[in-house]
Amino acid sequence: MNTLKEKILKLKEEKNAIILAHFYAPPEAQAIADFVGDSFYLAKVAKKTRADIIVFCGVSFMGESAKIINPEKKVLMPDLSADCPMAHMADLKKIKELREEYEDLAVVCYINSTAELKASSDICVTSSNALSIVKRLPNKNIFFIPDKNLGRFVKEQLPEKNIILNDGYCPIHANMKKEEVLRQKKLHPDALILAHPECEKEVCELADFLGSTLDIIDYASESKEKEFIILTEKGVIYELEKSNPDKSFYFVETTPVCPDMKLNSLENILSVLEKEDNEVTLKKDLTKKALIPLERMLEF
Ligand code: 13P
Ligand code: SF4
Repeated sequence: MNTLKEKILKLKEEKNAIILAHFYAPPEAQAIADFVGDSFYLAKVAKKTRADIIVFCGVSFMGESAKIINPEKKVLMPDLSADCPMAHMADLKKIKELREEYEDLAVVCYINSTAELKASSDICVTSSNALSIVKRLPNKNIFFIPDKNLGRFVKEQLPEKNIILNDGYCPIHANMKKEEVLRQKKLHPDALILAHPECEKEVCELADFLGSTLDIIDYASESKEKEFIILTEKGVIYELEKSNPDKSFYFVETTPVCPDMKLNSLENILSVLEKEDNEVTLKKDLTKKALIPLERMLEF
């Protein structure tokens, strides 16, 4: 009897499929994936792949982005209900109003957003490139959607721009509290604090380093220090421990877990490969419009 893993690997080969997994996907999905990374890395892999089928172990905005970049390919989600609440936290009406108010407005859209929001934006960004992209935009007036925390992180470093913030947030990162971080610091006084910019301001202020999921993993891996307090989703522990068996990683007590990311089980991966269901489908005109800001990001 073949194991789940063997069945997945066999079907993947037969169907010329690849499996992409975000660092927040369950460890078993990361272990079986062809490529594991943060949102930006996975978007770049999706653009380059020659596979016929992409199985995306992430949440819906990631599957949608892969489909927008590759409209001719089959993009399958292990669980179609895996969604990111923040991806919906911006308003098309507000975009329209601000476009009327500011002639040179650039709508900068964090990739953690629906295809509809992307289609109404000028350029997409991820947490690893938001600062450098916004900095290089010629526009002074920027509406940053949907994440107020990543938007604030960019705004603080670019006082020359008028960055208008939106009220969206990631419930997982925003739930990490200053008091809990300080408690970890008291327990592990030598540990460096590495945080994702989706965290709230008072938590970001405690960080020794702020960066995307991949930036955090790279920072911890390259550092001479041995202990780290990690302020992002707990799934990163898989890669952190794999690459750094001699280092220790601590998380806040109220464990930051994104339940949607955890829907990417091996059973679900095998099931989509067998049935080729749970396909990401988007209307053609929406795909075309949402491709423009995504391509601009990849070109930048
Ligand atoms: P990155 O992959 O850009 O670090 O984003 C984190 C995230 O919340 C993905 O859902
Ligand atoms: Fe969305 Fe936050 Fe989950 Fe990322 S961790 S998918 S931003 S809810």
